[in-house]
Amino acid sequence: MKKILIVDDEQPIRDLLQLLIESEFDNEIVLCESGSAAQTILSGDDNIGIIISDYNMPDGNGGELFLFNEREKKLPFILLTGGFLEDYPEMSGFLSGTGYFRSFVPKPFEEEMLFDQIKTGLEETQGEKDSNPIATGEHSEYVRVDIELFLRQLRSYSLDLFLKLKDDKMVKVFSAGDVIEDEDLLKYKRKNRHEIFLRYDDFQKMKVELMQSIFSQLKNASSVTEAFDATGNAMSFMMVGSKILNIWPDQVKLVESSVESCLRNLESTTELADFLKSFNKDEGYLIAHSMTTLHLCFMVMKKGGFYTSENMERLSYAALIHDCELSDSSHSTVIDKNSEKFKALSSREQESILGHPIRGAECALKLGNIPDDVDMLIRFHHERPDGSGFPRGVNRNSFSVLSATLVLCLRVADFLFYNDDSSEKLVNYVNSLEDNYAQGAFKSPWNALKDIVN
Ligand SMILES: [Fe+2]
Ligand SMILES: [Fe+2]
Repeated sequence: MKKILIVDDEQPIRDLLQLLIESEFDNEIVLCESGSAAQTILSGDDNIGIIISDYNMPDGNGGELFLFNEREKKLPFILLTGGFLEDYPEMSGFLSGTGYFRSFVPKPFEEEMLFDQIKTGLEETQGEKDSNPIATGEHSEYVRVDIELFLRQLRSYSLDLFLKLKDDKMVKVFSAGDVIEDEDLLKYKRKNRHEIFLRYDDFQKMKVELMQSIFSQLKNASSVTEAFDATGNAMSFMMVGSKILNIWPDQVKLVESSVESCLRNLESTTELADFLKSFNKDEGYLIAHSMTTLHLCFMVMKKGGFYTSENMERLSYAALIHDCELSDSSHSTVIDKNSEKFKALSSREQESILGHPIRGAECALKLGNIPDDVDMLIRFHHERPDGSGFPRGVNRNSFSVLSATLVLCLRVADFLFYNDDSSEKLVNYVNSLEDNYAQGAFKSPWNALKDIVN
């Protein structure tokens, strides 16, 4: 019988998929948490019959895995993601391609739809290799559950638990209401029994509650990224999206997933640990202007015709960490060196602010695991087209379209932070930037912005 490979970086999602699929299919399940781990598994195991993969993962995304599968394996492939196919350039031929089964299942998923797709994919694998029968997809009376998975997710439910004997008979080892300690089950594991069984009907009854519990673990997980999800995004979205900008829920999801994958990657570095902590706790300008900027950059790139997932990734990193070297995060509100705010600061504070774009760029370079050009974007984030910016005072000819987009969007995000009450004000503000911002590398982003606000 062919195995099912599940690839997702979130343990609760892996748990949920494993539980649901094992309740309907008898196939062995193989789990891993990244696209590159999946490639290793696929290279060494010819018995995998279908791949179910997330897209956004820190170490090798679903797109890379799809391309690997396309080249090496051609196995049925189900992409399970909260994002949109059109935004994953390497997936452009995903659904139209032929030769083997591919399917796109949006998260949060409906299990019936997912089961159907798995069944179809497995039937195809069976067609090619008749010697490997597959599960019919008809559930049996009992659901098998990995013992550690049980201890993680199911121990608080009141359930009869069974072990399977050699002759396939079930013997009840715990009754509903029994208190179960880790050791009660781990001792079976040591005897090489990795699974415990519950009744299919019991499983069905607790399924809805279980799914809710698993989804809430995703929100409450303690990592920086998840904490950011729970507070920062909601807050910053209210800030930006609610009033004057027409931000679609689709966009919010996409921008969030880009931010999430950047933050995950940044979390793995030590350099930014302190900054990320304060970033995630922030409830004011720092996080709001970063997220507003990124939403604006997203829209400007789409409208301006230069959106690619690579550009989105670059700008996501830049929007998140451009102010990482400010000694005082409240200084992120000081965006011009000719402003009253700047002049009111001590010369030491001024000096620190004037140097933060360069220090930030150097920090980005040191990280090593983020795309090229992010350091340039950070270096330029306070430069201005008329040469009045800092640290270098370059003029508009020195900007790339991306650095121009970032500068323009940071500027408008700053305006929106203090003026989110009227779209007329925003239109006037964007128009007022025309003289300075409608030329050179700024021309296309400014035109796009003008179209967006009008
Ligand atoms: Fe800055
Ligand atoms: Fe900033």
